[in-house]
Amino acid sequence: MKLTLKIWRQASLDVTGQFCQYTVEQAHPDMSFLELLDVLNEQLIAQDQLPVEFDHDCREGICGSCGLMINGQAHGSQTKTATCQLYLRHFQDGDIITVEPWRARAFPVIKDLVVDRSALDRIMAAGGYVSVKTGSAAEANSLPIPKANADLAFDYATCIGCGACVAACPNASASLFTAAKIAHLSLLPQGQVERQQRVQAMTEQMATEDFGDCSNHAECEAVCPQGISIDAIARMRREYVKAFF
Ligand code: FES
Repeated sequence: MKLTLKIWRQASLDVTGQFCQYTVEQAHPDMSFLELLDVLNEQLIAQDQLPVEFDHDCREGICGSCGLMINGQAHGSQTKTATCQLYLRHFQDGDIITVEPWRARAFPVIKDLVVDRSALDRIMAAGGYVSVKTGSAAEANSLPIPKANADLAFDYATCIGCGACVAACPNASASLFTAAKIAHLSLLPQGQVERQQRVQAMTEQMATEDFGDCSNHAECEAVCPQGISIDAIARMRREYVKAFF
């Protein structure tokens, strides 16, 4: 299949970017979107042009490194799908596809499609450590956890930190990311010791970064490759209020 790509090219944060148009003639429906960019880059290198910079690592929807705005949607048109798991069979021969980096003030462009998402790392770091006893692993049944809590904690813990929630939010809020990290530990016995200081520190760090606030658009939930519910944000807000009483 033949695809035309309009890709955002920007040499660095300080220079103006622009869309550049490329055509890939040898795309295959079974290729992932990142493999399409690989093919394009081989073409560009063969023509002595600079390849398009983009983030990736596992290419299995696990690590959260990939993240592109594809035709105006974070990670493209497929629900619960990271960019690396998006396949060309979801496009038509002859399509023109627009590819942009995450757009958010808290995610400055490094180059082309690569943005600096270290603001999310700083929120995580503000959460600090979890107090656990060292030594051999405790016998599993000695730490009873209600199944509903275990399931919910696992759902929240699946956040891969890709930043799609920020990119899709009209306020560029990191509320879903932060809430997922807070919520999963608040549901487990291991997260209780630092529960109050964690929610305070993480939400305050979120506020000091260049993210906006949540106004319940729910775009974050719609684009999250892990399908994390915005219920997490309500849980975070309750945790925050309770931390002061
Ligand atoms: S490259 Fe790891 S989630 Fe996409």
